[in-house]
Amino acid sequence: MTGFNDPFVIARCLVNLLNPPKDAKIVDFGCGTGLCGIELQKVGFTNIYGIDGSHDMLEIAKTKNIYKDAWVCLVGLDPLPEALSVNCDIAVASAVMIKGHFPNTCYVEMLKTVISGGHIAFTIRDIYLDHATDNGMNFKDALEELEASGKIQLVKRERYVKYKGLAMGSGHQEEGANILIYKKL
Ligand SMILES: C[S@@+](CC[C@H](N)C(=O)[O-])C[C@H]1O[C@@H](n2cnc3c(N)ncnc32)[C@H](O)[C@@H]1O
Repeated sequence: MTGFNDPFVIARCLVNLLNPPKDAKIVDFGCGTGLCGIELQKVGFTNIYGIDGSHDMLEIAKTKNIYKDAWVCLVGLDPLPEALSVNCDIAVASAVMIKGHFPNTCYVEMLKTVISGGHIAFTIRDIYLDHATDNGMNFKDALEELEASGKIQLVKRERYVKYKGLAMGSGHQEEGANILIYKKL
C-alpha cells in the first residue's frame, strides 16, 4: 500500500502472522482519528478499543464507530483505563514511536493491558531502532531490557517501506520501517 501505510501494515500482519480470532480484544494505543482501527475493522476485527492523548483526535475517531470504547490517556503519564487492565489479547500502536509522541516506557504500558501469552504489535522506523539516529528516544534498549528480563519474546520483525511512493520532503518520503510483534511471557 502506498502513502501512510502503517495502519494497513499492522492489520495485514496481525492476520497473516498471528491470525487471532476476529473477536480478540484489541487496544489501539495512540489511535488518533482511528485510521488503524479502520484497517483492523476492514480485516474483520470486531472488539477494538482506543486510547489517545488528544481529546480532539478521539472525538473524530468516535464518529467512525470503530472502537467499542475510547479514552483520553497520555501514555507514559496518565494511568491506563481500568477497563483495559490485563484483559486484552493484543495491544497495537501505529506510527507513535517518534520523538514528541510515545516515550520508551510505552512498551511497559502496552504490556499492562495484555494477558499473558498475548501480543504487542507496533510500527517503528529504522532510525528509531538505532542509537545514532533515534533522537535520544532509546526504544531499542527499552525493548532489549524487557527481552533480557524474560518479559517479552520477539515473534516477528518484518520490514516495509513507510510513506511508499511519497517524495514530499523529510518526514514524508519513503523510509525504512518495521513492524515488530512480541509475545508477553
Ligand atoms: C502520527 S499520529 C498516529 C495516529 C494513528 N495511530 C494512526 O496510525 O493513524 C500520533 C497519535 O499519537 C497521539 N499521541 C502522541 N503522544 C501520545 C501519548 N504520549 N499518549 C497517547 N497518545 C499520544 C497523538 O495524539 C496522535 O493522535
